[in-house]
Amino acid sequence: MTWYTGDATYDTLLAIGLGFAALVGVAAWFVPSPYGRFSSGRFGLRTDPRLGWILMELPATVTFVAVYFSGARWDEPARLLFLAVWLVHYANRGFAFPLRMRVPKGQPGSFGAMVVGFGWFSTALHGYLNAAFIAGLAPHLAVAWLADPRFLVGIALYYASYVMNIRSDGIVRDLRTADEVARGEKTYRVPQGGLFRYVTNASYLTELTAWLGFAIATWSLAGVFILALSAANLVPRAVATHRWYRERFPDYPAGRKVLIPFVW
Ligand SMILES: NC(=O)c1ccc[n+]([C@@H]2O[C@H](COP(=O)([O-])OP(=O)(O)OC[C@H]3O[C@@H](n4cnc5c(N)ncnc54)[C@H](OP(=O)(O)O)[C@@H]3O)[C@@H](O)[C@H]2O)c1
Repeated sequence: MTWYTGDATYDTLLAIGLGFAALVGVAAWFVPSPYGRFSSGRFGLRTDPRLGWILMELPATVTFVAVYFSGARWDEPARLLFLAVWLVHYANRGFAFPLRMRVPKGQPGSFGAMVVGFGWFSTALHGYLNAAFIAGLAPHLAVAWLADPRFLVGIALYYASYVMNIRSDGIVRDLRTADEVARGEKTYRVPQGGLFRYVTNASYLTELTAWLGFAIATWSLAGVFILALSAANLVPRAVATHRWYRERFPDYPAGRKVLIPFVW
């Protein structure tokens, strides 16, 4: 099947990826991904969330690097810049974020093996689709692209969101103290400050705007794929998380929205 780049393998995998995102977008309303506060024993084996996250995200880095350097135009400046963006992104999400998580000692694993399994499919496909496009199949990502308004707007949105995403993840992480972790207490508190003043799901909001920025900066359907798959996962989870906070904390800030400040 050729319908986008002219490369049959690529275009077929892209179509499968977009179809998969649509399926996840339906399923996730019925079954929240079983990890963290929505962890469930119903879906089989569970592991330590730090290990789960590292394993789940690893294919994004490995596949991207392997595919990138087999691309025909990998050594051009704009493409190398996207390689750097990718490596920094996954150094955080794939390693720094899980290694800094506050996981209470002695608690049973809360990260479903099923999540890792689906995650491998998603992150490997994501790495392949973006690397193959950026390093070879995208004629527009030559050096002149670095002055294109789509690149400039997209990369600015991506980095503003990336910084706010790390900040939001940090606010949530700090809600559980080191003492509670050492005592094995799984404490949850209401996040305060930053974008949490406006929305319950500040990390999800900034994750989605980061991938929107990436899709604009690369001007690619590979970028649209990861934006769509992230939204398919995170929008239903954002709704469930908002409900979870409201039910658990009677004094939860009444004006705080689900995901979009002042709107929803
Ligand atoms: N692109 C995608 O498709 C995608 C998918 C999922 C996540 N992500 C990104 O990955 C990051 C983490 O997502 P997540 O769903 O794991 O976020 P999360 O629910 O905020 O959990 C992150 C960590 O904070 C802890 N935590 C959460 N709420 C807490 C509270 N109220 N009080 C104390 N500790 C709390 C969690 O502990 P417990 O584990 O004990 O609950 C976990 O260790 C986000 O930036 C998100 O955008 C991206």
